[in-house]
Amino acid sequence: MSAAIPKPAHTSVPINAHATARWSGRAYDADRHVSLEDLTGVLEAARWAPSCMNEQPWRIIICDRHTNPEAWETAFDALAPANQTWCDFAPILGVICSYTRIDKDDTTNRWHSYDAGQAALSLALEATARGLMLHQMGGFETDDIRASFGIPDRYTIMTMFTLGYQLPLEKVAESMKIRELTPRTRKPLGQIVFAGKWGEGFVGGR
Ligand SMILES: Cc1cc2nc3c(=O)[nH]c(=O)nc-3n(C[C@H](O)[C@H](O)[C@H](O)COP(=O)(O)O)c2cc1C
Repeated sequence: MSAAIPKPAHTSVPINAHATARWSGRAYDADRHVSLEDLTGVLEAARWAPSCMNEQPWRIIICDRHTNPEAWETAFDALAPANQTWCDFAPILGVICSYTRIDKDDTTNRWHSYDAGQAALSLALEATARGLMLHQMGGFETDDIRASFGIPDRYTIMTMFTLGYQLPLEKVAESMKIRELTPRTRKPLGQIVFAGKWGEGFVGGR
């Protein structure tokens, strides 16, 4: 379950192991394919994410380099150059879309993007639980993805992601090491959680 390059979250009190261990690394092992069972498990976790009125607005396109190199190339071509530099080694690229309407009455679903984000985190945590690493990306050409994969207008293209196994540190290129080893940071709890009143920073503790 632990990452090849661990960068655990430093929390004021212990939290669950997968939330602690998950992080968005960039150094993938191009030689390790993701088994169908692991891929299915990660996708099942997204399927079972909560959503407003159980609309389940997320749609996910999987492009596995091993089984469908053409789809993988198509997804790769849409990535921003800065992301292409490291995504080249990821065995799986994915696209997360979100249906913007409510099924039963075709009105706007105000929560669709929120729900798609929940499914995305569920994917990432299940990946971590299976010893895999998932890295979400906003840096890509949505128009290219829409055209290449034939995504209807009523779906917002939210993010792309990489999925695969992390490369052990000793195999990571020197040029990537600094970024892979830089500690993760977060705003303090009191800056993002308020106690009963807007701006009143929550004080955590035991
Ligand atoms: C919606 C979204 C878009 C992101 N876009 C990119 C991206 O284009 N390229 C990239 O390298 N990382 C991207 N990231 C990863 C974030 O930079 C990363 O999640 C953040 O720095 C926190 O690090 P951690 O996930 O390791 O905790 C994105 C993450 C999210 C959720």
